[in-house]
Amino acid sequence: MNEEQAMLGTLYGIGVGPGDPELLTLKAVRVLKAVSHVFAAASSKNDYSLALEIVREHLPPETPVDHLLFPMTFHAESLENAWTANCERVVQILGEGKHVAFLTIGDPLTFSTFIYLMRKIRNRLPGVKIVTVPGITSFQAAAACATVPLAEGEEAITIISGAKGGDRLKEAIRVSENVVLMKTYKQFPQIVSQIEEAGLTDSCCFVSRCGLDGQVVERDFKRVCEIQQPHYLSLMIIKKRGLEP
Ligand SMILES: C[S@@+](CC[C@H](N)C(=O)[O-])C[C@H]1O[C@@H](n2cnc3c(N)ncnc32)[C@H](O)[C@@H]1O
Repeated sequence: MNEEQAMLGTLYGIGVGPGDPELLTLKAVRVLKAVSHVFAAASSKNDYSLALEIVREHLPPETPVDHLLFPMTFHAESLENAWTANCERVVQILGEGKHVAFLTIGDPLTFSTFIYLMRKIRNRLPGVKIVTVPGITSFQAAAACATVPLAEGEEAITIISGAKGGDRLKEAIRVSENVVLMKTYKQFPQIVSQIEEAGLTDSCCFVSRCGLDGQVVERDFKRVCEIQQPHYLSLMIIKKRGLEP
């Protein structure tokens, strides 16, 4: 390690769980009390960060908190520019030798913005120390909420993104007894049709805003079909052998 690397602060990726503040780990709370600066991703529309709300009561009042704003767009160049600018803000604080926490919903290494940030920071500061504090994932909390086992015995479980629809569901359910479909909000009607086509209507459980106000746990497929536009924080658990009573 050279002198410059030794001067850098540590970047902590903190998983804050999917919503219920009681699902925060003791380690996350300890690190949050110790770092010099906290960053949370937010939409450039309203700068709201659920991750920040979850941990707020544990943050010392004097700790600076910065929102890293991301445009709500799929335009690759705009997103890349936002990432670069946000990365530079984190690099600046790390360069001052300060320890930094980046908050993420659920777990930082599961479908999370922390993965992009970590890659970019590693490119900019190759010697920087990065520590991940795992969080309870949304699908673990959703399974607990619905009392639906995720996997048992020799079963497999596959976790896929539904952001582009349910096309991969057939293949996933062929190789695994259990499937979690994350990010169901964008292509919900298509996902619902794929579940019907695969004959899995008695085997799926929809969970939305788990642990938060407006939580929905729905096992009745007819009612699932009535949902027009699910909340962004929504997922499906699908079990080939059917849901347990
Ligand atoms: C960008 S991913 C974040 C995943 C997160 N890192 C994790 O470990 O669960 C966002 C997706 O996670 C799921 N999600 C996150 N929080 C949730 C919650 N409280 N209830 C239901 N689904 C949730 C939804 O599928 C949402 O579209």
